Amino acid sequence: MRKPKQGPAKTAKSDSRLLDAEKFLLPTYKRPSVVMTHGRGAYVYDAAGKKYLDFLGGIAVNALGHAHARIVKVIRREAACAIHLSNLFHNAYQGPLARKLAAWSGMDRVFFSNSGTEAIDGAMKLARLFGRQANEAAGTTVKKHRFLALENSFHGRTFGAISVTSTEKYRLPFAPVVPGAEFVRFNDVADLEAKFDDTVCGILLETIQGEGGIYPVSEVFWNRARSLATEHRAVLIADEIQCGLGRTGRFFAYQKFSSKPDIVLIAKPLAAGLPLGAILTTEEVALRVSPGIHGTTFGGGPLACAVALEFLKIVEDEKLLENICTLGAELREGLTKLAAKFGFIREIRGEGLMIGVELSVEGAPFVSGAIERGLLINCTHDFTLRLLPPFIITRAQVREFLRLFELVLATTPQQASASDSGKSANPERVALAAVR
Ligand SMILES: Cc1ncc(COP(=O)(O)O)c(C=O)c1O
Repeated sequence: MRKPKQGPAKTAKSDSRLLDAEKFLLPTYKRPSVVMTHGRGAYVYDAAGKKYLDFLGGIAVNALGHAHARIVKVIRREAACAIHLSNLFHNAYQGPLARKLAAWSGMDRVFFSNSGTEAIDGAMKLARLFGRQANEAAGTTVKKHRFLALENSFHGRTFGAISVTSTEKYRLPFAPVVPGAEFVRFNDVADLEAKFDDTVCGILLETIQGEGGIYPVSEVFWNRARSLATEHRAVLIADEIQCGLGRTGRFFAYQKFSSKPDIVLIAKPLAAGLPLGAILTTEEVALRVSPGIHGTTFGGGPLACAVALEFLKIVEDEKLLENICTLGAELREGLTKLAAKFGFIREIRGEGLMIGVELSVEGAPFVSGAIERGLLINCTHDFTLRLLPPFIITRAQVREFLRLFELVLATTPQQASASDSGKSANPERVALAAVR
């Protein structure tokens, strides 16, 4: 591996890369003053040579860690052949990749996008298409246009995606958004039943809410969403962009339920860090699709698809689902011990290697403390520390994490508590409070 040259350590004030970023980038992110340069396995390095144990994985993207030899080899091979060809032609990898994704998911057909949010928008278009035709076939003139989504949801940043994202700060500054979206209280079947009727064309669920703080949809809620979608000729859309493709120890998080969605959305780890998303769906939905009705310039290019195919094969060849289950359980066990020691840990949630550590105090100072100690994690919804380690994580690295994390918990000064700030992190508690 060729590493970037390291000169004398630069301070934030003297590093021209940081100064350029500050001056020329849109200020959409609040970032620490470090420049990350490269990674190897479960570690990332900054320009000063500092090493970080990466339990964030580019927010659930780097499932194979960094610089996996088989991925690097495919990128080199394919980059020398064709990076882009156009969807006006077949390439060698889209078909085989679609076949493999169909086998993993139980879906029939695939459309490739460049990102998660584009997959969401494409799925919303499919829902409208399916709903309209289903209503016409049923001889009803009811306008079928509404989307149901969950409170505490996050589905991305395009207009379609923010319309079904409940968090107001992502949606309201851009209003009016796509009309017809309504939010159902999290895991609240009565609210779901009250809001579902023949005007609904699709319901979107993150099988496990990610940005919302690692909250799984309950089986009862999922099954009711399934039956209502069938009854009202709407599609059930599983947003598995963060929780899918192995993260829970299953190919897809919804595979713990007895019923299937009509549409599954994936992105993040699919092409091991190259931008690629996908809409997976059934033949019944696909029947409504004809040439020209949807498309993309970049989505499904040969390089990204070749890498994605290799990613899926690596997950199988290296038996990574087993690793995820075993080490995920060890990680949660270690965290549970820490929770007994640190009273401000409220709850440990999650499955496989998608874990939330809910605190009763603000999480941001712990994220900064972790960076100082050479550990990458992040915080969602103010109070939940989120852990998304790579699927290739080892037992020694889980132990290293627990050691570092304990130090961070022990040494970080605690700031405002959830009760002080009047905010609640937990959508189930919010839903229950609303019912009472
Ligand atoms: C559940 C979920 N859906 C959709 C998205 C949007 O994906 P992208 O950032 O690739 O557009 C994200 C991103 O974090 C996500 O976690």
